[in-house]
Amino acid sequence: MKALVLAGGSGVRLRPFTYSTPKALIPLANKPALEYVVAHLRELGARDICLVVGDWADTISEAMGDGSRFGVRLTYLRQERPLGLAHAVRTARPFLRDDDFLLHLGDNVFPDGAASIVEEYRRTRPATGLVVQQVADPRAYGVAEVAADGAVLRVVEKPAQPRTDLAVLGLYYLTAAVHEAIGAIAPSLRGELEITDAIQWLIDRGHTVEARRYSGFWKDIGRSDDVLACNRRLLDDLVPAVDGHIDAASEIRGPVVVEPGARVVRSHVHGPAIIGAGTLIEDCLIGPGTSVGRDCTVRATHLSDSIVLQGAQVHTPRGLYGSLVGRYATVGPAEPDEPAHRLVVGDHARVEIIAA
Ligand code: G1P
Repeated sequence: MKALVLAGGSGVRLRPFTYSTPKALIPLANKPALEYVVAHLRELGARDICLVVGDWADTISEAMGDGSRFGVRLTYLRQERPLGLAHAVRTARPFLRDDDFLLHLGDNVFPDGAASIVEEYRRTRPATGLVVQQVADPRAYGVAEVAADGAVLRVVEKPAQPRTDLAVLGLYYLTAAVHEAIGAIAPSLRGELEITDAIQWLIDRGHTVEARRYSGFWKDIGRSDDVLACNRRLLDDLVPAVDGHIDAASEIRGPVVVEPGARVVRSHVHGPAIIGAGTLIEDCLIGPGTSVGRDCTVRATHLSDSIVLQGAQVHTPRGLYGSLVGRYATVGPAEPDEPAHRLVVGDHARVEIIAA
């Protein structure tokens, strides 16, 4: 089966990370988000996958390659400007032809897999099959009104006053009918061709549009808190493996991966956690939910529920939780006679300092 992955977004809400990394390559449990997307599509039966990419085209294709590593065929298609999900589908028409396909957003992660829903859609072939889930605040999503038998009555993109709390998740089963719909709709107020509007066009013309509830874990990693929550969930799936060096004064507890060349010295690591290749952890307490990337130095601190990216240095006596530290960033103690905190903080970064 064919699949289309949309990985062209600019990731404004994930700045400053998205100044130097496309959102779809943000590491979760030390692997780029897109790797989870491609693995999910493979599990759903897709082997021929086209990634729609924007300005980060080269970075993404270098990271993902031709797909052989994942047992699929990956091709790349450049969307010159982010003009909406439906515009991306239109751009990919030569790849899709008139085949049924899966559309997977590159920033949506489904660790529990949506196989049973997709299998049903492949069997019954509705014009469009949606995957929905109840969310606390539906205003940030496409919102569906669904009848008791699963027929979708209405979909609205990011309504100010949602009529239900069912968000449309970033995995769609689509048939060739969607191309006619995309040809007929106009750009939304935000100037984008919305897939939601194309689906509503199909509903209005009597096509079968269905929705199934997904009860597993799902995240759109649009904001840093979502990235951390997703990282935590994916760490739960880690297969423990200690390939690095743990000294006699250290203790490893719970599911922990210590990648080759990493060193853990006089430290406690309580999983689920992952320590990247070539990283030094010294005199630390590394708590659950933590991913430390490759070639980092983490000294005399306490980290939990956090992501530290490649090459960063962390040495904060008070410790960090719920934090994201960017590549080659330094978080360290002040000199003894400094009168206040000193910061060199990148654009759109966020720092929260405790008052006492
Ligand atoms: C997109 C879709 C929206 C969907 C969401 C899922 O929104 O437009 O309908 O609910 O993905 O993550 P975006 O994340 O592009 O704002």
